[in-house]
Amino acid sequence: MKNTATRRPVDRLIFALDAPDYAQALAWIETLSGHVGLFKVGKELFTACGPKIVEEIKRRDQKVFLDLKFHDIPNTVARAAEAAVRLGADMFNVHASGGAAMIRQTADAAAAEAARIGVRPPLMLAVTVLTSLNDADLLRIGFQKNATEMVIHLAALARESGAQGVVASPREIALLKKMLGDDFVVVTPGIRMSDAPADDQKRTLTPYEAVQAGADYIVVGRPIRSVKDPERACREIVQNIADALAASDRS
Ligand code: C5P
Repeated sequence: MKNTATRRPVDRLIFALDAPDYAQALAWIETLSGHVGLFKVGKELFTACGPKIVEEIKRRDQKVFLDLKFHDIPNTVARAAEAAVRLGADMFNVHASGGAAMIRQTADAAAAEAARIGVRPPLMLAVTVLTSLNDADLLRIGFQKNATEMVIHLAALARESGAQGVVASPREIALLKKMLGDDFVVVTPGIRMSDAPADDQKRTLTPYEAVQAGADYIVVGRPIRSVKDPERACREIVQNIADALAASDRS
């Protein structure tokens, strides 16, 4: 089955709203509304500003990826997901290592809450292995598999348990699509235009390469935030996405 969650190329661009406070976040929301598909609100901004930053995005009719990576007992995460639905999150995520029951109860709770209030259910993604962890780190934590094996194992668990996709690094896109099928959504950070600095990202792909490899959404922060003309950067990225979709016949 083909993933129909996204259609226009711009819908696939997620802007990492990595701002330290409300004023700076609001300035970015004002500048980029209509130029990106979703605004990703992470732990720093959400802890600093609370739900009002999400409400501000939704008031402008823009979409939100609530990147809070929930991980707790099933009941707690399920209740948090219901709150995310009420807040208007279009996408949110949980740690796959929270286990099958946590993922399943959360998926069911989010769907039920969305039906109850009459909104479209958010896309629930799973985080597999944080890209800051290498094989040695995993061994120290107590996992016997290497990072790639863990990613596949946790992504399969997430899928079986009701997650609709994963957040994955550029190097994992093709493998995940091959192992878990085209309809399992892959969201990929670590994106850079070919002439841009990599910053602290160890392995990067251009938007074109990521979409060609199978990414359904790309997450982009600094390549938009740290250039002179952020709107133009968005247009270039969206064009890159459109070209890749046309080349791979996925548009
Ligand atoms: O500025 P840049 O484009 O590198 O931002 C990427 C965004 O994606 C940041 O919000 C970062 O936290 C997030 N991210 C990442 N790598 C992961 C998971 C999330 O860069 N493995």
